[in-house]
Amino acid sequence: MPSRKPMLAMILVGVAIAGGGAAAQDLAKKGEYLFHAAGCAGCHTDVATKGPLLAGGRALKTPFGTFYSPNITSDRTHGIGTWTDADFVKAMKGGIDKGGRHLFPAFPFPSYAGMADDDAKAIKAYIFTLPAVAKPNRTHDVSPPFGWRIAAWGWQLLFFGGPAFPPAPVGASDEVKRGHYLANALGHCGECHTPRNWFGALDPSKHLGGNPTGPGGRIPNITPDKTGIADASADDLITLLDSGMKPDGDVVGGEMYEVIQETTSKLTPEDRKALAAYLKAIPPVHMEPRKK
Ligand code: HEC
Ligand code: HEC
Repeated sequence: MPSRKPMLAMILVGVAIAGGGAAAQDLAKKGEYLFHAAGCAGCHTDVATKGPLLAGGRALKTPFGTFYSPNITSDRTHGIGTWTDADFVKAMKGGIDKGGRHLFPAFPFPSYAGMADDDAKAIKAYIFTLPAVAKPNRTHDVSPPFGWRIAAWGWQLLFFGGPAFPPAPVGASDEVKRGHYLANALGHCGECHTPRNWFGALDPSKHLGGNPTGPGGRIPNITPDKTGIADASADDLITLLDSGMKPDGDVVGGEMYEVIQETTSKLTPEDRKALAAYLKAIPPVHMEPRKK
C-alpha cells in the first residue's frame, strides 16, 4: 500500500492542475468579451472573401496606400503562436512586434496603448483557444517612402508617446470612466471619428469630432455639439449602439454597421449605457459643415 505522503502529493498536484485549467478558462472567457469590445476580428479577417477568422489579408485602404492585416491566429509559422504575453503586450500597447519591427498605425495601437496589460493578456489567451490557420501574410501595397518600415519608426518617433486620446473628463463618474475605457482603449472609436493630421496622426484636441476624410468617406462628429450628437439622448445612443437604429428610423451604414455587429451589440447593457454616458459627457467639438 502506498504511503500517505505521495498520495497526498498526487491529490494536491491534481487539484492544482484542475485549478490552473479553470483559471486559464476564466482568462480566455474574459478575453473573449474584451476581444469583441476591442474589435479585432473585423480587421484581421478577410471578410470580402469570407476568409478564416483572424488569418489576416483584409485590405485596409488609407491615403498612403493599402495595408493588408497580418495573420494573428496561434499558427506558429504564419501567426503569433510563438509569441509570449510580453511580446503581445508590446505590440498591442507599444507598436513593436516580436521581431522588433515598428508597426504602422493602420493597426490602432495608439488607442490600444491605453489598455490594461491584464486585458491584453486575456485577449491573447482567448485568441490562442481559436483555430490556428497556416496562411502566409500579404505584403502591404503602400508606395515608398510611406511603406518602408523606417517610416513606421519615424512616425512613432514623431507622433507616438502613449495613448492617442485625452483622459476621462475631470470629476467623471465611474460609469463615464468605464465608457471612456470602452470607447478609447478598447473600441478605438477615435480611429475613425477623430480627425487626423497630414501624417495620419489623430488630433486629440478634436477628439471624436468627426473625420471629413475617414475610411469610407466623411465620418460624423459624435461629441455633444450641434454639429454632432447634441440632439440624441443617451437612450437614442444606446439603441443605436445595440441595433444600428437611428432616432429617425434610419439604420447606420457602412463601417459603423460592422462596428455595431462586431463590437457594441456584443457589450453588456451596462457597458453600452456607460459608452453612451461617456459620449454625452465629453467636451463638444464644433465641426465645420461640409463645404459644397
Ligand atoms: C483597424 C484595423 C485593425 C484592428 C481593429 C486591429 N488590428 Fe491588429 N493589425 C492591423 C494591421 C494593418 C497590422 C499590421 C501593421 C504593420 O504591418 O505594421 C496589425 C498588426 C497586429 C499585430 C502584429 C502582428 C505581427 O505579425 O507583427 C498584432 C499582434 C495584432 N495586430 C493584434 C490585434 C488585436 C489583438 C486586435 C484587437 C484588440 C487588433 N489587432 C485590432 C490592423 C488592425
Ligand atoms: C471603422 C470606423 C468606425 C469606428 C471604429 C467607429 N465608427 Fe461610429 N461611425 C462610423 C461611420 C462611417 C458612421 C456613419 C454611418 C452612417 O452615417 O450610416 C458612424 C456613425 C456613428 C454614430 C452615429 C452618428 C450620427 O450622427 O448618426 C455613432 C453614435 C457612432 N458612430 C459611435 C461610435 C462609437 C461609440 C464607436 C466606438 C465604440 C464607433 N462609433 C466606432 C465609423 C466608425
